[in-house]
Amino acid sequence: MCGIVGYVGGQSALDVVVTGLKRLEYRGYDSAGVAVLSDGGIAAAKKAGKLVNLEKELVDRPLPGGSVGIGHTRWATHGGPTDANAHPHLDNAGRVAVVHNGIIENFAALREELVERGHTLLSETDTETVAHLLAEEFSSVGDLAEAMRLVCRRLDGAFTLVAVHADQPDVVVGARRNSPLVVGVGEGENFLASDVSAFIAHTRSAIELGQDQVVELTRDGVTVTDFDGGPADVRAYHVDWDASAAEKGGYASFMLKEIAEQPKAVADTLLGRIDAAGRLTLDELRIPATVLREADKVVVVACGTAFHAGLIAKYAIEHWTRIPCEVELASEFRYRDPILNRRTLVIAISQSGETMDTLMALRHAREQGAKVLAVCNTNGSTIPRESDAVLYTHAGPEVAVASTKAFLTQLVACYLLALYLGQVRGTQWGDEINAVVRDLARIGDDVERVLETMEPVRALARTLADKDTVLFLGRHVGHPVALEGALKLKELAYMHAEGFAAGELKHGPIALIEEGLPVVVVVPSPRGRSVLHDKIVSNIQEIRARGARTIVIAEEGDEAVVPYADHLVRIPATPTLLQPLVATVPLQVFACELATARGNEVDQPRNLAKSVTVE
Ligand code: M6R
Repeated sequence: MCGIVGYVGGQSALDVVVTGLKRLEYRGYDSAGVAVLSDGGIAAAKKAGKLVNLEKELVDRPLPGGSVGIGHTRWATHGGPTDANAHPHLDNAGRVAVVHNGIIENFAALREELVERGHTLLSETDTETVAHLLAEEFSSVGDLAEAMRLVCRRLDGAFTLVAVHADQPDVVVGARRNSPLVVGVGEGENFLASDVSAFIAHTRSAIELGQDQVVELTRDGVTVTDFDGGPADVRAYHVDWDASAAEKGGYASFMLKEIAEQPKAVADTLLGRIDAAGRLTLDELRIPATVLREADKVVVVACGTAFHAGLIAKYAIEHWTRIPCEVELASEFRYRDPILNRRTLVIAISQSGETMDTLMALRHAREQGAKVLAVCNTNGSTIPRESDAVLYTHAGPEVAVASTKAFLTQLVACYLLALYLGQVRGTQWGDEINAVVRDLARIGDDVERVLETMEPVRALARTLADKDTVLFLGRHVGHPVALEGALKLKELAYMHAEGFAAGELKHGPIALIEEGLPVVVVVPSPRGRSVLHDKIVSNIQEIRARGARTIVIAEEGDEAVVPYADHLVRIPATPTLLQPLVATVPLQVFACELATARGNEVDQPRNLAKSVTVE
């Protein structure tokens, strides 16, 4: 939600900031703006709509040059997506400019105070109050970092703020509480950004800021304090991917690129976690084995696609460890007074590591004494930092708003975790673990094979572009896969899409079936749990008898489905629990192609942002 960039150095601040904003546009695209310190003042430009509108504005009305600047790309919360509400916001004298990510909960009271003191506020945003407060504080203390500390102490809510002041033209100041902000450390230049992709083309040295910290950047220095001006703990790290990882690399969209990267992402997530003897070595987990042995309940909290990964994890955890596992939407979790204690292991799954609902859920869990283990793709983000342990997924940067490769790697991490719990608790024998690990190690190739056979899926998707509804059915682990297929279609194609447990059909949803309605069915393997397979084949017959156009995803060699499939999508045979790793891929491709056929921009679906850093 909102991308922020700040720069101080020897290059054109405008170029660095606008290029950085391009990398952060996935975070929000309701408006964009920049401010540059120049000729003793602040020059700013901002425009509603995507960054391209701002770029046009900068061509029509160029800003003067300068080497200190800030920028913002917005996902609107307070106030609609208009030019006036776009960031940066300035004080009345135009001496301070500020950009913001998050929500300032007490802004109405602060705004009222400011108006009483004679300030004129021009936008409907909470952010503008900060510009005015900073101007007031700066006029008494004469230092932007100190002014920021004073202002932050008065703010409630979640915020990342980055500001410049015309009277301190060599400095950019940032602050963070519950929202991300990373420092990029260069030579003779320094950067601030919501994530490292904004400055990765310039430096791979980063500093992760902690909670309630203020940072002052100059060309040659980075000074971090807490909100009281005291010393602050920060963590410096090296970013282990380069700028090319955040480029489209010849693909028409980031989503297509990220779908194609899945075999590698899966392999990278397994890398280094299995020793030569095939034993799992998750030494990185900081939770002692005794705690894992004593856990009597696992609770998974997550949102959206990560929640679907959690639903699949439940099958694996309960099957391999025999510990009861609950899966809960993070946004619901803490509001229903869940029963947690020191023996509860909470798994928080999040690609970004920033999702506010998940963060709040994990804080609630820790307050109750539970141990929290994060499954996360973003090094140094808030969720792993606030968890007791973390298992990183190695998907690399995921830029498209719709999550694809992160989902597959979340599944891999959850399988590893479930097996590791089984190993530590003795519910799985070494050879059983080895067998699954061998299957997992092969699955990247299976995903690759699925990707190679997707042309008919694309062709089919194009024929459905004028439909209003698509339903998805699945059983067992196929049920969350169906939910994920429906979510992808909703967010990308803006179509009505629902995922159902196939067994529930007769309890209501079958009434939705009408002539020609496309229904995607994820069929479990006929091997192993063949009862489930037979039942879903019956379900396919039932919906087809009522006119549904059936799109059947079934493993190679499953001949029982052939007579009832209007369209058959083959996936490699995999053990049942692992099937989501291959069955989800056609659904991603299907949604991406259908959305494209409907003229939608797949990387930046309407109303959405990649990281949901507000509740
Ligand atoms: O970064 P997170 O994994 O915590 O994000 C959770 C959801 O917001 C995310 O998965 C969302 O549902 C995706 N846009 C779905 O494609």
